[in-house]
Amino acid sequence: MSILASMQKNQLIPEEYKQMSRTELEDRVKEIKNKLGPKLFIPGHHYQKDEVIQFADATGDSLRLAQLSAENTEAEYIVFCGVHFMAETADILTTQNQTVFLPDMRAGCSMADMADLQQTERAWAKLGEMFGDTILPLTYVNSTAAIKAFVGANGGATVTSSNAHTMVKWAFEQKERILFLPDQHLGRNTSFDLGIAPEEMAVWNPINDTIIYEGDISKIKVILWKGHCSVHENFTVQNVHDTRVQFPDMKIIVHPECRREVVELADEAGSTSYIINTIEKAEPGSAWAIGTEMNLVNRIIQQHPDKHIISLNPQMCPCLTMNRIDLPHLVWSLETLGDPENRNIIRVSNEIAEDAKLALERMLANS
Ligand code: 13P
Ligand code: SF4
Repeated sequence: MSILASMQKNQLIPEEYKQMSRTELEDRVKEIKNKLGPKLFIPGHHYQKDEVIQFADATGDSLRLAQLSAENTEAEYIVFCGVHFMAETADILTTQNQTVFLPDMRAGCSMADMADLQQTERAWAKLGEMFGDTILPLTYVNSTAAIKAFVGANGGATVTSSNAHTMVKWAFEQKERILFLPDQHLGRNTSFDLGIAPEEMAVWNPINDTIIYEGDISKIKVILWKGHCSVHENFTVQNVHDTRVQFPDMKIIVHPECRREVVELADEAGSTSYIINTIEKAEPGSAWAIGTEMNLVNRIIQQHPDKHIISLNPQMCPCLTMNRIDLPHLVWSLETLGDPENRNIIRVSNEIAEDAKLALERMLANS
């Protein structure tokens, strides 16, 4: 949503919160958490800032946060510290009596915005003409609720970076082909790991509704949506080469949202939780270059002074949309929870939620 649209909808934070000291903001969060107890639940994604994550009741990767949302039936207020698609997922998986809030409605995800429903319906119609009823749609959870609903209604499921292998295998038990939305890199990396050859993968360009593929289309097994994460695309083959030259003993671990060439050259690849666990288990004195979002990399560096850890890309920035959730926004959202005018509520319409839940539940049942 644009800043102007947010202002018009009264979704921008009042100035007074921006003027408060860090101590005052922290005291206010503590006070509200004490007052509300288990009526309030604050999940926080690993990419959130330290100033926010310190108040999270639970932290996790996208899968863990979805599982926690499905399990928590107690909290009346869920203040989601993450991005819009995660808060939508929480709303879909919680009960009618629970309300999900996103502290800053501008905290979107550029990857999720790369697949809209109209594009997907057009793609589905064209792919149907080309391949008949042989395709199962899978969508990365980094997608809008409308895309999840489309996928759910067509027999498919959501996937996260930590269960993509399981879900792609599951999909091939249902149909001959998959359409993988919206992250081409996670789809490609997972397919490679499962032994699918490059000539069995095509790319769907949603901008001009065409398939990018040379050869006999009957060989295609995976159709990758032409979307990507603008944060993870900043890790390059050059970064890998520079790291290998400068630190020959350093291991490289990256998120599977990175390009294929980078993942191929890395020593390990996995979800944010996989990266955290791998570094935790690593030998003291070991050296690691990490290819993922910077708030998380900085936290891992601080938590492991016994290891030499750097970002794979020395110029890397945090995810700007994740970063929109800061302490002032957290306090503002906590202090306006009961406000009837509250504009930070995430509510997915019943019609969309019903089908989206099918896609999410198929994933949760397999995770
Ligand atoms: P995971 O935490 O599931 O690895 O996802 C990373 C991500 O991009 C969230 O936006
Ligand atoms: Fe979206 Fe990438 Fe940010 Fe994750 S890191 S929220 S995929 S833009």
